[in-house]
Amino acid sequence: MDPIDLLLTDCRVATMRAPNFGAIEDAAIAITNGRIAWVGPRADCPAVQAKQIESLDGRWVTPGLIDCHTHLVFGGTRVGEWEARLDGESYESIARRGGGIRSTVAATRAADEATLRASAQKRLDQLIAGGVTTVEIKSGYGLDAETELRMLRVAGSLRDARIVRSFLGLHALPGDVAREDYVRGMVETVLPAAHAAGLVDQVDAFLETIAFNTDEVGSLFRKARELGLQVKLHADQLSDGNGAALAASFGALSADHVEHTSKDGVAAMARAGTVAVLLPGAFHTLRETKLPPIDEFRAAGVAMAVATDCNPGSSPMLSLPLAMNFACVRFGLTPSEALAGVTRVAATALGLGNEIGTIEPGKRADLVAWDIDRPAELAYWLGPTCAARSWIGGTARDTRH
Ligand code: NIG
Ligand code: FE
Repeated sequence: MDPIDLLLTDCRVATMRAPNFGAIEDAAIAITNGRIAWVGPRADCPAVQAKQIESLDGRWVTPGLIDCHTHLVFGGTRVGEWEARLDGESYESIARRGGGIRSTVAATRAADEATLRASAQKRLDQLIAGGVTTVEIKSGYGLDAETELRMLRVAGSLRDARIVRSFLGLHALPGDVAREDYVRGMVETVLPAAHAAGLVDQVDAFLETIAFNTDEVGSLFRKARELGLQVKLHADQLSDGNGAALAASFGALSADHVEHTSKDGVAAMARAGTVAVLLPGAFHTLRETKLPPIDEFRAAGVAMAVATDCNPGSSPMLSLPLAMNFACVRFGLTPSEALAGVTRVAATALGLGNEIGTIEPGKRADLVAWDIDRPAELAYWLGPTCAARSWIGGTARDTRH
């Protein structure tokens, strides 16, 4: 038998394959060709030769964390609007007076590719320090062909994590184009052009009274289907717009935010296997009071993912473990649900459930080792929780902290 590439030994493993973190004490993980070949109690490890053996001194190993909803590429910040909100102005009112997403659009259009890349990489490095190995990144701050494609190129060029790119042309209406023309342009021209350039993995939209309606989102999703792209939706964030049901009717990978999702929406998601992506950073930052229907999701068997929603407006959040903490403390998830939400379920939300998200034979060896006493500690600290060590496809990565 050929020697394996790497044997990680003297570790405790949260495989996330079974309840209670799928924990294995005193474990070993064998890795070859970038994938997990074997995981289990060290005593049961088959006698194989390894090119490299690394002892982890009893550290916990989890699947690499997956941030399945971010807007990581953008120009500027919106700290002034944040101050206005602290003074009592609402997110919707700022958006209606031409601020909000549109102010980030102006800053993003004004930034060249190198500037956008440098600022996004800096944010990504912070997510990576918190254990992220895969990150989803949306366009949506360009709102014209040139800048939407630039954002997607920048997203694809970032280093040290696996990247999934989502086209979010229907994020906000720019001030200078008639509504119908804008939607038609995004659906008929910009999405196909971005897809033809190999820049799009999935398609997203913002369904909301201050954004786009069901007809408009439907036309985009039909085009996505034509192009063979899977969809997901910013749904029911500020009001119940029947977003979850619309997403489910297109077999969406996920419906995201979902604070205002109705019972019917939950049932439709359950039938379609659509994941609920919880974004407690936005809930917190916007001082939302309507909780997502967590008990209903549980009862209906809707899987729940957790993500940072990192963006300059509603969620300037740079730590996925902090999102886990918010999901536990504010939404009532258990630490095990929260960790599943940033690993196994987040992988499903990205359509990558067969490739990443758990530690089991055949999956990619995207792993993180942590200096923690037990897995729940990942959701416990409010400051940065740093990965001690991480591997992507079995290759050790400098975690930069
Ligand atoms: O996920 N809801 C819409 N999009 C983002 C906010 C974007 C922004 O405010 O810049 C979100 O919360
Ligand atoms: Fe978002």
